[in-house]
Amino acid sequence: MDAIVIYSETGNTRLVAIKINEIKKVDLLEIIPENDDPNITSPVFKKKPDVKSYDHIILGSPVHGFTLPHVTKTYLTQTRFDGKTVDLFITHFFPFAWMGGNQTLKLMKWMVEQQGGIVGKMTCINWKNKKREKDIETLVSSYQK
Ligand SMILES: Cc1cc2nc3c(=O)[nH]c(=O)nc-3n(C[C@H](O)[C@H](O)[C@H](O)COP(=O)(O)O)c2cc1C
Repeated sequence: MDAIVIYSETGNTRLVAIKINEIKKVDLLEIIPENDDPNITSPVFKKKPDVKSYDHIILGSPVHGFTLPHVTKTYLTQTRFDGKTVDLFITHFFPFAWMGGNQTLKLMKWMVEQQGGIVGKMTCINWKNKKREKDIETLVSSYQK
């Protein structure tokens, strides 16, 4: 069974997740902290998706400060993905992938693997790039059967 799990502070990552889910039609679960302040280093969760019953997860997050937000990082340190396939996507704003996108995806991959997950697709969506809609479309259509 598949699920989409995201953290989205300002809605961009959620928008991509909703588009993917127009194709996938699966559970869309949000990681929600009690407080959205990005400076909180040890966030407490209002909603913390339980992924036990899923074997394929599409995991989305924004980039904060050239890396994963504390919310995503903390969630990933507390969640096991043993044997599950986990596709990753991030949304970010700065114009070049090397300004946060690539290293954030690499860290996400490492953290998921530390928790026993098998990383599948890895996608970086640059919100400022003219190709944004096309990149989202490419990602979405990669889930078309
Ligand atoms: C506190 C904060 C820090 C950010 N730091 C970066 C960054 O280092 N690199 C980058 O490309 N975008 C950065 N951004 C932009 C977000 O990654 C981008 O707008 C993303 O699409 C937001 O996703 P969301 O709307 O799902 O929260 C930052 C945004 C915030 C609020």
